[in-house]
Amino acid sequence: MTEINWVALKAAANQAMQKAYVPYSKFPVGAAALTSDGKIVSGCNVENASYGLTLCAECSLVSALAMGSDSGNGPAKLVAFTCVDGHGNVLMPCGRCRQLLYEHSAEGMILETVSGFKTIDEVIPDAFGPRDLEERK
Ligand code: THU
Repeated sequence: MTEINWVALKAAANQAMQKAYVPYSKFPVGAAALTSDGKIVSGCNVENASYGLTLCAECSLVSALAMGSDSGNGPAKLVAFTCVDGHGNVLMPCGRCRQLLYEHSAEGMILETVSGFKTIDEVIPDAFGPRDLEERK
C-alpha cells in the first residue's frame, strides 16, 4: 500500500485551486488524489456561462486520472482524496462528485472531510455502481 502524504496532497489541491476558472461563482475549488500507481492527480472547477454546465474540480481530477493512465490499462484507482475551497480549507465533494469518485475508488479509499478522515463507503453509503449493472441485469 502506497504511503499517503496528506501534506503533499493538500499542496496539490491548493495549487489546482489557483487555476480555477470561476467568473460566476467566484468560488474556486481544488481537488487532489493519490492514485494506486503512486501518482498525484488534481483538478480545479471550470465554470460556464450556461451555469449548469459547470465542471466541478472532481470532474477535472477524474479526467486527469484517465489521461494519466498507461494506455490499455484503463484509469488507475483513487486511494486518497482531498478537496479545498478558496481559503485552503477542506471542502466536501458534492453529491454528484461523490458518485464520480466512487466509480474510480480503490477498495477503502480515504477522503479528508470536514468531519475527519472517512472511507468512500462512509461518504456515499450503499452506492449504486458498476457492480449493480452487472449483478442486477
Ligand atoms: N464545486 C466543486 O468544484 N466541487 C464540489 O464538490 C462542490 C462545488 C464548485 C462548483 C462551482 O464552480 C462552485 O464550486 C460553486 O458551487
